Amino acid sequence: MTLYGVGLGPGEADLVTVRGQRVLERADVVYSPGRLSRSVATEHVPESRIGDLDFPMTRDPEALREAWREAAAEVAPRARSGDVAFVTLGDPNVYSTFGHLRRTLDAFHPDVDVAVVPGVSAVTAFATALGVEVDAGAGLALREAADGKSPTGPDRMVLFKVTDAPATHDGLVDAGYDVTYGRRLFMEQGDERVTTDPADVADRDYYTLAYAERADLQKDRPTAFEDAREDTGVVGGD
Ligand SMILES: C[S@@+](CC[C@H](N)C(=O)[O-])C[C@H]1O[C@@H](n2cnc3c(N)ncnc32)[C@H](O)[C@@H]1O
Repeated sequence: MTLYGVGLGPGEADLVTVRGQRVLERADVVYSPGRLSRSVATEHVPESRIGDLDFPMTRDPEALREAWREAAAEVAPRARSGDVAFVTLGDPNVYSTFGHLRRTLDAFHPDVDVAVVPGVSAVTAFATALGVEVDAGAGLALREAADGKSPTGPDRMVLFKVTDAPATHDGLVDAGYDVTYGRRLFMEQGDERVTTDPADVADRDYYTLAYAERADLQKDRPTAFEDAREDTGVVGGD
């Protein structure tokens, strides 16, 4: 039997994948690490099958390790005797709490089978919500921008954990970036916001990301017609 890490997508219940929904429907217990993931999960499974795991609100690494050891000790026996799920918003392999659980299980309960159902990550959902096209030939980097950090370097970046947008904005603009912010994208809870003004997202809300692109980036976007000509080797002509 198996522990499934299930990605729920960005937060709207109908963005859970068909495979994710099937796993949730047949799991004996569905564990959720937070309020928002729980509210998405309960659109697919009854409250009676939601399992409780306690996570302390702390950054103390030892307290967190202990909490994950306890979570793994709760999940492991259930995953040996049946199928259980651990849900996360987005994808379980992208900046996710599921990684902590999997590593703790590997260390203390290595006999537990683990499988992952990928979800629609904010890494891709941002592009639709912000109207960004990541076109052929473009690079895109992921960075974290918690506590006002302004990472720089790549031409295009998706910044996660934008908890102090005005401070992050100043650093990025000084370094030559144009920035667009997205808050609560495709989420049922709270208002979705897309803005280039950091003042609109100045209050701390964990579910805020940013897309930063070098202002002087040369964009050379071929049309489909030009692509087709290159693919067929037909260059020149009319
Ligand atoms: C710990 S990471 C989890 C990412 C998630 N596993 C995924 O694949 O999307 C949380 C960060 O992702 C971003 N994020 C996740 N979902 C979002 C959403 N619906 N709207 C805006 N930002 C989101 C925010 O920057 C947030 O601080």
